[in-house]
Amino acid sequence: MKSQEIRTQFLDFFKEKKHKVVPSAPMVIKDDPTLMFTNAGMNQFKEFFLGNTKATELRITDSQKCLRVSGKHNDLEEVGKDTYHHTMFEMLGNWSFGDYFKKEAIGWAWELLTKVYKIDKDSLYVSVFEGSDDADKLQMDQEAYNLWKAIVPEDRIIMGNKKDNFWEMGDQGPCGPCSEIHVDIRPKEEKAKVPGATLVNKDHPLVVEIWNLVFMEYNRKANGTLESLPAKHVDTGLGFERLCMVLQGVESNYDTDLFTPLIKEIAAITGSTYGVSDKTSPLTDVAFRVVADHVRAIAFSIADGQLPSNTGAGYVIRRILRRAVRYGYSYLGMNKPFIHRLVRVLTDVMGKAFPELKEQRQLIENVIKEEEQSFLKTLENGLVLLNTTIKDTEGKVVDGKKAFELYDTYGFPIDLTALILDEKGYRLDETGFEKAMQEQKERSRSASEVSKEDWTVLVPDVTPEFVGYDLLETDVKLVKYRKIISKKEGKQYQLVLDRTPFYPEGGGQVGDKGYLEVPNGDVVYILDTKKENNEIVHFTKNLPKHLEETLHASVDEKQRQRTASNHTATHLLHQALREILGPHVEQKGSAVHSKYLRFDFSHFAKLTDEELKEVENFVNARIDGRLPLEEDRSVSMEDALKAGAMALFGEKYGDTVRTIRFGRSIELCGGTHVQNTSDIWHFKIVSEGAIAAGIRRIEAITGDLAKDFYFENNSKLQEINGLLNHTKDPANAVRALQEENTKLRKQLEQLLRDKAKNLKGTLLNELTEINGVQFLAKKVDLDAAGIKDLSFAMGQERENLFLLFGAEQQGKAILTCYISKALAQERGLHAGTIVRELGSHIKGGGGGQPFFATAGGKHPAGIPEALNEAKTYLDT
Ligand code: SER
Repeated sequence: MKSQEIRTQFLDFFKEKKHKVVPSAPMVIKDDPTLMFTNAGMNQFKEFFLGNTKATELRITDSQKCLRVSGKHNDLEEVGKDTYHHTMFEMLGNWSFGDYFKKEAIGWAWELLTKVYKIDKDSLYVSVFEGSDDADKLQMDQEAYNLWKAIVPEDRIIMGNKKDNFWEMGDQGPCGPCSEIHVDIRPKEEKAKVPGATLVNKDHPLVVEIWNLVFMEYNRKANGTLESLPAKHVDTGLGFERLCMVLQGVESNYDTDLFTPLIKEIAAITGSTYGVSDKTSPLTDVAFRVVADHVRAIAFSIADGQLPSNTGAGYVIRRILRRAVRYGYSYLGMNKPFIHRLVRVLTDVMGKAFPELKEQRQLIENVIKEEEQSFLKTLENGLVLLNTTIKDTEGKVVDGKKAFELYDTYGFPIDLTALILDEKGYRLDETGFEKAMQEQKERSRSASEVSKEDWTVLVPDVTPEFVGYDLLETDVKLVKYRKIISKKEGKQYQLVLDRTPFYPEGGGQVGDKGYLEVPNGDVVYILDTKKENNEIVHFTKNLPKHLEETLHASVDEKQRQRTASNHTATHLLHQALREILGPHVEQKGSAVHSKYLRFDFSHFAKLTDEELKEVENFVNARIDGRLPLEEDRSVSMEDALKAGAMALFGEKYGDTVRTIRFGRSIELCGGTHVQNTSDIWHFKIVSEGAIAAGIRRIEAITGDLAKDFYFENNSKLQEINGLLNHTKDPANAVRALQEENTKLRKQLEQLLRDKAKNLKGTLLNELTEINGVQFLAKKVDLDAAGIKDLSFAMGQERENLFLLFGAEQQGKAILTCYISKALAQERGLHAGTIVRELGSHIKGGGGGQPFFATAGGKHPAGIPEALNEAKTYLDT
C-alpha cells in the first residue's frame, strides 16, 4: 500500500467514527515561549485539555508534522544511526476532548490495525501503565488492562513504568497514563527463538512502538505536582513512517516509499550506493539516512516561515542543516551544495498532503543552497585547520584552546570538532575549551569594565513609576544615586527617580536624553537612560547640588519625537515587508535611534528597486493615511495574540502586555510611538543589503531627516545641472556624455595602437645583438595591450628576438617579455619565469607562456633596474 493511501485510510477511518479531519498545525511554533517546534500531535490542543478553551468539535483527527530536536523530546543525535528515528515525522492522531475515553480509543486502534490495515494480531504487543510509588502515587491503569485483556492474550500485555507509560508533554502541562502498541516484524525463525515480549522497549529495530494512546487526566503544574483535569481526554499518536514500514513489508523506515525516492536521488547526485556500507565505509548508509531525514525537517521548517539563523529556532534548523552538510561532505564526498537539489523529489513525495511544500519550493531551495554554500566554506577552512591541529597533537587529547580558536575565529562548531575527533579516535579537552571560552568572556568584560560604588539611598522603599508614555516633563524626586567609573565614559553618576518620563533603552529603541532642572536654575543633563534589574537608571556627569529638592525632569523632545517616528515607521516597515515579500519575513533584530532606524529580517534575495519602491510607498501611504495610535497598556498575552498582534522584538512578555495598533498593524511593544502616523512626515529607505545568509538589513530615515536627505540630493542635482549647463534632462545629458566617453576611449585606444605601430619602426632600429640574439630592453609609454601588439608586430619582422618592455600606467608598473618561440625553445628560456624574477624590482609578480608574459607591480621606480638586468638572461 502506498503511503498516500495509508494516510488517507487512517483519516477516513476516524472520519467514519465522527471525527473532524483538520490540517496539520505549523511545525514551527511562534507563540509559545516553552516550545519551539510541534513535538506531538496534541500540542495545538493543549488549551482544550487544560479546560482553558472550549472545543467546538469534540472529536478530531489529523496527520501532524512534528519535529523532535530540542527540549524534552530530542532525537537529533540518534537520527541516521538507526532505521526508525527521525527529526521530522508525521504523527497520525485521533482526539477526544471530554468525549469518548479508553474503551473506544483502545477498540478503534485495534480495529484499524488488525481489520483495516490487516496487521497480523500475533505480531502486536500492548503495554499498560503499572502505577508509581513516587511522589505522584499513581494507580496502575486497571481499566486499560481489562479492556486489552478482552482483546489480546494476557502474555501480550506488558506492564510499563512511568518512563514508558505515563506521557507528559513537557515539564508542565497535560499528561496521563498511556497504552502503547508495539509491532514485532522479525522473521519467523527469530520470533521462535526470542519471544517478542522480551524485546518491547529495548531499542530493537524490528520490535518498535507504533502507536501511543494517551489518556489525559492530569495537569503537571509548575511546582511539580499533579492536579486532575476538569475532564478526561484521549490523545493518540501513530508514527506514520513506522506504520508505512510495517505495511510495506520492509525493515527500515528509509525503505518505505516516503524515503526511497530521496535515497535514490542522493545516490544519483553523489554517485554513492545505499545499503552496501561495509567496514571500509561504515558511515555511508548513516549519511544517506541523515541527509534524507534532515532535508525533510529543514524544508518543512522553511515552509513554515522559520529560516536558519543564529538564535532560537533558526539556530536549531541551521544545526540540522549543518549536520546534513557535514555527513554529505565527510561520507558522500560532497564538497558542493547538493541538499537543495532534493527538494524537488521531496515535493513530489509529500507535496500533495502538504501543499506548502509546493507553494514555497523555490524559497526552500534558495535558502538551503545559500546555507550549504556558506557552511561548506566554513567547513573547508575549519577541516584543514583541524587536521593540522590533529597532526601537531601528541597523544590522543586535542588542546581545548586550539579547538576554541577554531570555534571563535573560524566559526567552526564545537560539537562538530568533538564529533570529528571522536571518529578519528581523538578526544577533545573539554575543560580546556571551557576555560578558553571563559577567559575570552572575561577579556571582553574587562574591556568595558565598570566600577560601581554602593547606592546612596535618599528615599527608601519607593517603587519608581514610568510616566513617559503620557508626559515628557514632570516634577521628580531623587530616590537614590551612585558613582560609577567605566573605561569608556570615565566618571558618571546613576540616578533613580521616584517617577520618570525618560524611556529606558529596550526593545531596540535607544534610551531618552534630557535634563533635570534644579530650583536655583542649575541643570543636570541626562546622557542616557537604561533599565537595570527592573529599575530605570539615568546617567549623568554631575549630581544635582541640592539632592533632596524637587527637580523638574524634561525629556529632549526633539530626540524623542524623532525616535518615536522611527519606531512607528519600523512597525509599518515590518508590515510592509510581510505584505510585499511574504509571511516568511520575520524580524531578526532592530535598532531605533533618533537619526535612523535599522531593521533586520529573514529573506532570501536582494530586494529589487521595484520592491524597495513598493515598500516605501506602502509605509508612506500609511503615513498619508493619518492613522491614529490605538494603544492598550494592559491586555492579556492571549488576547493580544488572538487579535493578531505580532511580537515585534521577540522579547519575553509577561501575562499582561501593551499592544500598539496603527490601522491593521498590531504589535506587542513597550516602545514610544507617534500619536498619529502623519507625525512621521515621510519614510525613506537609504540602504538595503545582506548581513548573513538569508538575513537582510534595511536602514531608513523619517521626518526632518528625510527632508534633509531630499534637500541635500536636490542641491547635488542642482550642482550637476549647473555643470550640464542647466539642461532640462540631466539624465539624458549624462547618458550622452557616457556614450561620448566610450567613443573617445575607443578612439584613444586606436591612436595608441597606431602609435605602437609607428614605434615599431623606431624600435627595430634600436635592437642590439647579444650572443646571436636580437635584444631590446626599454621603457615605453604604452598600456599592456599596446605593448603586446608592439611585441608581436616586431616578432613578425625579426627572428631570434628577445624584448623586455617596461611601462608606467596610472602609478603602476608593467613588465612584459617577448621571446621568439624558436629561441625560447632552443635556449630553454621562459618569459613567464623571467618576468616573475624581474618582477621583484617592481614589487610585483606575474607570469605567462614561455614566449610572452607580463608582470605588474606597484613600484614603477624599479623599472630601470629590471630593464638593466634583462640582458643577463642572454649570458652564455
Ligand atoms: N502525545 C502522545 C505522543 O506524542 C500521543 O499522541 O506520543
